[in-house]
Amino acid sequence: MRDAAPTTIYLKDYMPFGYLVDSVHLTFDLADHATRVTSRIAFCPNPEATDRTFFLHGEDLTLIRAVIDGVEVTPNVTDKGLTVDVPDAPFIWEAVVEIDPGNNTALEGLYMSNGMYCTQCEAEGFRKITYYPDRPDVMSVFTVRINGDLPVLLSNGNPSGKSEGWAEWTDPWPKPAYLFALVAGDLIAHPGQFTTMSGRDVELNLWVRPGDEGKCAFGMEALKKSMKWDEDVYGREYDLDMFNIVAVDDFNMGAMENKGLNIFNSSAVLASPETSTDANFERIEAIIAHEYFHNWTGNRITCRDWFQLCLKEGLTVFRDAQFTSDMRSAPVKRIHDAIDLRARQFPEDNGPLSHPVRPESFQEINNFYTATVYEKGAEVIGMLKRLVGDEAYAQALKLYFDRHDGQACTIEDWIKVFEDTTGRDLTQFKRWYSQSGTPRISVAEDWQDGTYTLTLSQRTKPTPGQPEKLPQVIPVAVGLLGQNGDEVRATEVLELTEAEQSFTFSGLAAKPVASILRDFSAPVILEHDHTDAERAFLLAHDTDPFNRWQAGRSLAQDTLLRMIREDAAPGTNYLDGMLAVLRDGDLDPAYRSLMLGLPTQSELAAALFESGNVPDPMAIWTAVETLRQATAQHVQDLLPRLHSETLIDAPFSPDADQAGKRALGGAVLYLTSRLDGGAKAAEEYAAADNMTRQLTALSCLLRAGAGQTELADFYRQWQHDRLVVDKWFGLQVTTASPETTPDVTRTLTEHPDFNWKNPNRFRAVMGALAMNHAGFHRAGGAGYALLADWLIRLDPVNPQTTARMCSAFQTWKRYDVDRQDRMKAQLTRIADTPNLSRDTTEMVSRILGA
Ligand code: BES
Ligand code: ZN
Repeated sequence: MRDAAPTTIYLKDYMPFGYLVDSVHLTFDLADHATRVTSRIAFCPNPEATDRTFFLHGEDLTLIRAVIDGVEVTPNVTDKGLTVDVPDAPFIWEAVVEIDPGNNTALEGLYMSNGMYCTQCEAEGFRKITYYPDRPDVMSVFTVRINGDLPVLLSNGNPSGKSEGWAEWTDPWPKPAYLFALVAGDLIAHPGQFTTMSGRDVELNLWVRPGDEGKCAFGMEALKKSMKWDEDVYGREYDLDMFNIVAVDDFNMGAMENKGLNIFNSSAVLASPETSTDANFERIEAIIAHEYFHNWTGNRITCRDWFQLCLKEGLTVFRDAQFTSDMRSAPVKRIHDAIDLRARQFPEDNGPLSHPVRPESFQEINNFYTATVYEKGAEVIGMLKRLVGDEAYAQALKLYFDRHDGQACTIEDWIKVFEDTTGRDLTQFKRWYSQSGTPRISVAEDWQDGTYTLTLSQRTKPTPGQPEKLPQVIPVAVGLLGQNGDEVRATEVLELTEAEQSFTFSGLAAKPVASILRDFSAPVILEHDHTDAERAFLLAHDTDPFNRWQAGRSLAQDTLLRMIREDAAPGTNYLDGMLAVLRDGDLDPAYRSLMLGLPTQSELAAALFESGNVPDPMAIWTAVETLRQATAQHVQDLLPRLHSETLIDAPFSPDADQAGKRALGGAVLYLTSRLDGGAKAAEEYAAADNMTRQLTALSCLLRAGAGQTELADFYRQWQHDRLVVDKWFGLQVTTASPETTPDVTRTLTEHPDFNWKNPNRFRAVMGALAMNHAGFHRAGGAGYALLADWLIRLDPVNPQTTARMCSAFQTWKRYDVDRQDRMKAQLTRIADTPNLSRDTTEMVSRILGA
């Protein structure tokens, strides 16, 4: 291992840095393998700090020269940074370092992607650019001069000078180093313009490589919508003369909110109807909004330390979800978010990687950009809003921006603005930030003399480091339905604060049916033992769109679990319920397509495990296939009519309406292919005039065991478009049968286009392997071994992406002894790899529970 004893950083050890930074001047002399970075930094002693050690972070740097107040000095340099004696008064630090962007495959710091220079500094990448106090509570104004012969030279802030071979940028807003960015390349601008609410003109540009000009329009429109929405809804105006977005092909994450210069993974910004699916369009719109919204929630107000990551990420995810709800359909967005939370956050929170929304320790911060920090962090804000109400939320946010603009803050600061706004004591609510694990709510009902009593109990299982749990404040939105389906009590938010608590509803004529956790009002598991008939009733009548969908989902899950456990036949409640939903032409097509979704196989495995069964991935797969087939047969007569309902006359638009029709059309095609062997899908494929249709048809064909000709045709058509080739790789793994999945995946890794050093390509294949539940868990462990082989290979090249993908193994303890042993053996093999990165070491040891 690289670090004999990896160091753990603790929240409780926070200390301010001994010096403040008044200004930073950077000069870059770009060269592929020997870029020179000259820094000139004005420091002064920090009156708030007690420790005056002058330590600057620095990694993979060659120090050429260091100067303090004009006098050359000799710092004490290690592989983590340097220390040196400094005056006890303001002073100027100057340094020249050399770095090698051309060999930077980790994609952190300054690196190269297709001949273009770009940076990624969050969380701790700036230290790979120059020596600096690389921590978010050190904020400063930056001036950056770039010398290089590339046509486009960009950095943060406003342009302050340029000529042949150089450009200078000045960012007037103090910022932490993680928001620094530089881009240099042969790029083309897709321009745009925005006038802010106070009448300032902002120049917008989306910078892409030649050839991608045709994929910019949608992203640019999304940016303008985001700018307008943040003004309208949060009163937040943009604060520079220019806003640039750059698309890069090699990027570990989706995108990054660098001040005035957002850098995006190409897959998260480039779009065209021919090459992008509706899901791509929706994701792009959301990511552009997300990174733009960080300008206020993240940049103007940043994090004191990385333990506070949810301060900016949870809030910004919450804001981008609000934006998507406003731009598209609120219920559909809520359902998507619940599906996503259950698929990604619940397994994390209920396994060895469980950690609080605000973690208390870490070894490698990159490992804490998790579904818990992000998605549960956003849910916590949603609960807060539900508890205090919309108006108080708006006031609290205004206070937050007024009080903390320009500061590096904590969750305590955030909670305090809500306390000060509402007068409410939020001490117990704060447990959402410190307690890990998913609370489970169980329900008991009583009916007597016109009074309905609902008794809710909460319980959270022990998680790593937290054996005992205290009750949390859980907003449970409840409505009551009468026997005829009318709503007899409108939605009310019950505040569950005790381990067990009763709520009464009196004056009712008959025993109601309760619709609990409406709108998914809290990120919890609701254990409500409804009968199939009650679920079918809610599926038919619930006035809350989320819970209506949930009723169908629960009915599906109960049906599948019975099929798996008891070898039961698919129940008629589910099949008839689906038929009724599909027939209901008043229901939004997007909503109807969601109704047809099933719990993921991984979710079913979790449910089996939780109820004391050992999940058998093959049995789960078989049950899902059987239910799908039964559904197709049951709704068969309706399929032609449904198909005609999804036809679109208008020219292609990625809007929610059309996307919803295509989604339902896709679901119908899938059921149809189960009955006709793919005949209709082959027609659809041939007629497809957009990527959603083309990819859906191809997917249906492959799942029906056909489509090899179309698959080859697809590759020929799109082999020059890397984002579509990613889809071609991924789809083959996703649609492979359990038996063939490992071999299909291995064969793809031998394809000449498998550029495994590109994170998008690696994830397209290996991410799809991990997501193919029955294939990954195929008996014999071939899936496990294949993934481990590739993680071991990728680790020295790109530790961050390797570490993230280790989470494929996080559920290993759910399965039978043989599978457990095989997964454990692979995890141990990874852990024992010589020189394994700190990132991967931490992940594997946490998963193993070491
Ligand atoms: N700040 C992050 C990007 C980031 C993550 C940088 C981890 C360094 C390490 C950015 O704002 C972000 O959260 N991006 C998300 C997309 C977003 C829509 C949730 C991403 O990249 O996946
Ligand atoms: Zn973010």
